[in-house]
Amino acid sequence: MKALVLSGGKGTRLRPLTFTIAKQLIPVANRPILGYVLDQVARITRDVGIIIAPETGEYVKEYVMSGEEWGINVTYIPQEPLGLAHAVKTAKEFLGDDSFIMYLGDNLLGDSIEKYAKKFKEENLDALILLKEVEDPRAFGVVVLDEKGNVVKLIEKPKEPPSNLALVGVYFFNKNIHKAIERIKPSWRGELEITDAIQELINMGYKVKAEILESWWLDTGKKDDILTANAIILDEFIRRDVKGEIEDSILEGRVKIEEGAKIVNSKVRGPCIIGKNCIIENSFIGPYTSIGNGSIIRNSSIEYCVIMENSLVEDVNRLEESLIGRNAKVVMKHSKNTLKLNIGDYSIIEI
Ligand code: TTP
Repeated sequence: MKALVLSGGKGTRLRPLTFTIAKQLIPVANRPILGYVLDQVARITRDVGIIIAPETGEYVKEYVMSGEEWGINVTYIPQEPLGLAHAVKTAKEFLGDDSFIMYLGDNLLGDSIEKYAKKFKEENLDALILLKEVEDPRAFGVVVLDEKGNVVKLIEKPKEPPSNLALVGVYFFNKNIHKAIERIKPSWRGELEITDAIQELINMGYKVKAEILESWWLDTGKKDDILTANAIILDEFIRRDVKGEIEDSILEGRVKIEEGAKIVNSKVRGPCIIGKNCIIENSFIGPYTSIGNGSIIRNSSIEYCVIMENSLVEDVNRLEESLIGRNAKVVMKHSKNTLKLNIGDYSIIEI
């Protein structure tokens, strides 16, 4: 079995950050989302194709390189973002006649995918899709099952969803998916949709099954999804681990402080992570916060935020639910209000 990881796309919903970074490289708990995705696929195969977009492909290559960190061999496949099924079509030479797992590079799952790979192989399926019950399915591919759990129908982002089962961004296919993709046309938004291709597989009489995911699932398409993913990953994986220098400060709960970081006259409450060589001075760092390497926080109070590398937050009375890009500066000498920000790399906010 091979793997196809989709790390292209446009990332329009995460602008302005995605003007200068691939959305799959946005960090949660100080690690790019794509890192967690590759941990997952490495459990079932070493043969991994990564779809990259013209604008952000080089950043993805710089991070993953040959794939050595995960023990995988990577083939990069450039693609204009024309849909998920278009990505499969573009990867046809790499995929050959092999079965494969397709994994969206911005999706995070609490569950390991090995058991699903096993079911796909043992039951000799043409496709296995994963589903999750969601409150508002209108932003997702939605699936209708019959009473035996067979997939009957798939609809992309329906206005009136016929079920609350959303399509998770992890799919198993055999070579028959290529035949289905050859038969579909671009949708109204000009994309070759994977939901249409799976529907076509069903119409052609192939065996398509679904499994309902037991764990949490996050599609990190928007700012709030990134903050939720950050909170969940910090909650699940952060253990108390203090490597930096602590001076006149209080550390509460599960706090990870990396080498070279300096915490002076501050309070840090976990779960949170403070990256290498950060300086935290006269500040409060609250739960569910990740601060990237080399950032400086002075005279500020921060909670439930993702602050990327080499940024500065100074004199901010209260910063919460914010996503701050790399090398950004937020300095607020005269504000007593709470700030909620979504700002890109190199932004400067001074009041
Ligand atoms: P989406 O989130 O559906 O699309 P997008 O990345 O273009 O974002 P937006 O809707 O905000 O503009 O894509 C899901 C994943 O698949 C994501 O990791 C990007 C990737 N992708 C490709 O690799 N090629 C494509 O043609 C598309 C549409 C997405």
